Amino acid sequence: MLSYMTKIRVWLCVLVACKITLALNNGLALTPPMGWLAWQRFRCTIDCDTFPDECVSEQLFMTTADLLVSEGYDKVGYKYVVIDDCWMMHNRTADGKLQADEKRFPHGIKALADYVHSKGLKFGIYESVGTKSCEGYAGIKGYEKIDAQTFAEWGVDYVKLDGCYTDERNMDTNFPQFGKYLNETGRPMIYSCCWPFYQEGKGMQVNYTLVSQSCNLWRNYGDIQESYASLFDVLDNFAVKQDIWAQYAGPGQWNDPDMLLIGNFALSHEQSQTQMALWAILAAPLFMSNKLSTVQPNFKKILQNTEVIGVNQDKLGIQGKRIYKDQGIEIWTKPVEPKEIEHYSYAIAFVSRRTMGTPFSYNITLNNLGLNNPNGYKIKNLYDDNTTVKILKPDSLLKVKVNPSGVVLIRANIISKYDYIHGPYF
Ligand SMILES: *[C@@H]1O[C@H](CO)[C@@H](O)[C@H](O)[C@H]1NC(C)=O
Ligand SMILES: *[C@@H]1O[C@H](CO)[C@@H](O)[C@H](O)[C@H]1NC(C)=O
Ligand SMILES: *[C@@H]1O[C@H](CO)[C@@H](O)[C@H](O)[C@H]1NC(C)=O
Ligand SMILES: *[C@@H]1O[C@H](CO)[C@@H](O)[C@H](O)[C@H]1NC(C)=O
Ligand SMILES: *[C@@H]1O[C@H](CO)[C@@H](O)[C@H](O)[C@H]1NC(C)=O
Repeated sequence: MLSYMTKIRVWLCVLVACKITLALNNGLALTPPMGWLAWQRFRCTIDCDTFPDECVSEQLFMTTADLLVSEGYDKVGYKYVVIDDCWMMHNRTADGKLQADEKRFPHGIKALADYVHSKGLKFGIYESVGTKSCEGYAGIKGYEKIDAQTFAEWGVDYVKLDGCYTDERNMDTNFPQFGKYLNETGRPMIYSCCWPFYQEGKGMQVNYTLVSQSCNLWRNYGDIQESYASLFDVLDNFAVKQDIWAQYAGPGQWNDPDMLLIGNFALSHEQSQTQMALWAILAAPLFMSNKLSTVQPNFKKILQNTEVIGVNQDKLGIQGKRIYKDQGIEIWTKPVEPKEIEHYSYAIAFVSRRTMGTPFSYNITLNNLGLNNPNGYKIKNLYDDNTTVKILKPDSLLKVKVNPSGVVLIRANIISKYDYIHGPYF
């Protein structure tokens, strides 16, 4: 029998021709999760003598938690502090439990989770579904139930489960199984799965229905690396696969193009704005992986741009797509609220992949972008502090100037027919 909510969804779906999926239903990650994840910037740095403030240690995560709060990142949504690989010992305790490296985590994981919670933040941890983690530490295979229980006892709020040291053909069983054990602990934990990435890598057909019913988010493609080329390798792959992947994104279930590189070594200011804009368009999980104490103010401003974050966190949870490539300009759009029956508002990113050193002037009508609300749209440039809101009708030209490797990110909110009844809009 269809539940009441399902009936409502079926009815809504007739209206907007969407796809009905059953989410994991743990009530978590209803908008893309946000936080900080150690991997891209800190990897498996275990040499604390050479890298005292960059090694994977309780100190790193405590300092990060402190800075997320003192620098205001938590207030704009970055709540999850997530450990990646290399936190654990190679062996288990005599009674089969995972244990943290005793030198780098002398107070243990529970104490660290308590500290993170004391800051009003959430705490995440990493494991791998196979016999070992990707870096060769203890994996969960054979200990799934006890590990799920241990994570719950430690106060974990988020689990990233990697896919090393197992056969990809078993993933359709072992990833859902661990999710079931997490659920049975009774502790709500966001479940992040690397499962599709490994199967896609082997050229297998991924069952995204099953993935999206089992996990809150999942990695589809290889690890992002410290370069603009890597960033666009990920993005090109997402664009090529968008007609398969995007339909599985929605509240509680997200495709994950991997971490934000912003504030690190490789990306320029323009390139950082581009990553932030496109991660917003893709409704991607927003996990920084940076050394928060050294993030320069202009990068911090990009990371804390609440209007761009607002596009990412839009309640509809629709993953945007690349709709045009023209003269080295890519146009990516994402339907967002407010919407009125068939008319959505939109975020529109004009991304320059041109290499000539001057800004490029580009124009297109709203019609041509699929924006045809007869009353028009309020147009705002989200990266321009001095922007004024303009009103454009569907046949008006939207004109932008895009810097090389930069982006212009526009928000176009529909003007409701009721706004005309009740007088001027603003
Ligand atoms: C785990 O390994 C450590 C050091 O490698 C050793 O001291 C300890 O006895 C081992 N514990 C178990 C339960 O085997
Ligand atoms: C476990 O799964 C059930 C059924 O989907 C769900 O209602 C419940 O909220 C889940 N509990 C946790 C702790 O994830
Ligand atoms: C994919 O998973 C769904 C949900 O478990 C299942 O109903 C379906 O049969 C699977 N599809 C394939 C091709 O295995
Ligand atoms: C719009 O762009 C075209 C080239 O793509 C250009 O010829 C035209 O002059 C532009 N129009 C305006 C009003 O900028
Ligand atoms: C915004 O305008 C003010 C005053 O005209 C100017 O000082 C400032 O540099 C402008 N900011 C940007 C980002 O253009």
